[in-house]
Amino acid sequence: MAFTLALTTKDALSVTTDAIVVFVHSGDFAQHPTVRALDKAFDGGLLLHAKATNFEAKPEQIIEIPGLGKVKPRRVLLVGLGIADQLTLPRWRSAVAVAVRAVSSNTNSALLVLPATGVDYRVVGEAVGLGAYKFTKYFTGERKPKTELTRVEVLPASGKPSADAKRALAVGYAIAQGVALARDAINEPPNELVPETLARIARGLARAHQFKIKVLDKKGILAAGMNLHYAVGQGSANEPRFIHLTYTPKRKKKKLVFVGKGLTFDSGGLCIKPAPGMGDMKSDMSGAAAVLGLMSAVATLKPDVEVHGIIGAAENMPDAAAYRPADVFTSLEGKTVEIINTDAEGRLVLADALCYAARLKPDLIVDAATLTGAALVALGKTCSAFYATDDDNAQVLSAAAREAGEAFWRMPLLEELAEQLKSDVADLKHTADRYGGSITAALFLREFVGKTPWIHCDIAGPVLADRAAGIHPKGGTGHAVLTFVKLVEALAAQ
Ligand code: BES
Ligand code: MN
Ligand code: ZN
Repeated sequence: MAFTLALTTKDALSVTTDAIVVFVHSGDFAQHPTVRALDKAFDGGLLLHAKATNFEAKPEQIIEIPGLGKVKPRRVLLVGLGIADQLTLPRWRSAVAVAVRAVSSNTNSALLVLPATGVDYRVVGEAVGLGAYKFTKYFTGERKPKTELTRVEVLPASGKPSADAKRALAVGYAIAQGVALARDAINEPPNELVPETLARIARGLARAHQFKIKVLDKKGILAAGMNLHYAVGQGSANEPRFIHLTYTPKRKKKKLVFVGKGLTFDSGGLCIKPAPGMGDMKSDMSGAAAVLGLMSAVATLKPDVEVHGIIGAAENMPDAAAYRPADVFTSLEGKTVEIINTDAEGRLVLADALCYAARLKPDLIVDAATLTGAALVALGKTCSAFYATDDDNAQVLSAAAREAGEAFWRMPLLEELAEQLKSDVADLKHTADRYGGSITAALFLREFVGKTPWIHCDIAGPVLADRAAGIHPKGGTGHAVLTFVKLVEALAAQ
């Protein structure tokens, strides 16, 4: 899709576009120069309509009137930002995304008119990309969208935008492309997206951005000693892959490793899941998707830190060759693990990947995984759980998430639960009691990172949305990409 996003300085009413979208603060929105000009063109009809519909420019409040031939665009929208002083970057990002999503259904082009204060061009660029996202590749005939938003122009409230503004808009849009990459991978059906597909996407990124890449196939995983990863993948005809991407900067201040759970489908294996909701387990590679999305954004941002993206990819299936409860395997790290429930496969794949990550001797390991239903029970569908081995990194992650507009809540690594992971036949069993399931999963993972500072993100809730809201479309959200981007930037700035 050819999509152009550009700044313009033309007079708002002279731009040829399908939809004009004016972002307004509450209180003084009637004074916005473009609102006044539009209202004049409608002989006072726009503000009358605003009044009649109780439009107060509250955050994400939208009104729309048809152009009626009185102005060039077919659609005229006012989008609320709330009180100017209270406008945070996440609120801004959300308002722009909601507006772009609202116009993207039957228009080819849109003009976004910005307010006089509080504009962050990178956030606008991000939000346009996030709001315009659609996953329509499997629609045919009548279901195929007839129009596609391909041109978005951005008009500052007044004056000429700087070269910095132009650059920031483009950077923001590129970051949104990273999120879109993650969303596409999540939305892709699991018969199409198998472990090798994740490797192919990673190879594409490596080729486009000169990343180093290493991919291990099933044999390579076994030869490397990643027996836990191998075990999870052994029941599927779609063989597992281990993927390692490296971005090397010119000036290297730190080394960061991101590890993603890449279960392209999680049936539960022999401990098979119930049918309702099983299809959602195509999203069990969302951690891997977040890592790929981050690497794509890193290529644009070129931070002064080395960034590694590691993915443990496999499909968890019941089969004659599948691993089973009571099996014992030796992990890459050396500890032996007794299998309790084949549906707790993510922590096994991650255990070997985390050990591999620790051997790179990084300053920080961050993993992202749709690891437990317990995380959903604890924090709901919109918030991720995270665990950190040190407070400093935890604070950096919390701040990054806040700026990104993604919800992450720190959870405790409760030592008193660790004894539940003792096995009678091996060093560890890989699941514990039902209660505190997200915590015991984190405690299991901790066994494999050694002394390396580590953050574990259990993103099971927010990676799939049942309805569009804010920056998220329905379906795959690409959650964690924006937070990881901010985290990398914050650590690069230290
Ligand atoms: N991928 C699931 C976790 C999950 C559940 C993610 C629901 C998103 C929505 C994971 O592999 C899993 O099955 N975990 C089990 C662990 C249990 C068997 C100890 C769970 O949470 O039930
Ligand atoms: Mn599972
Ligand atoms: Zn899983």
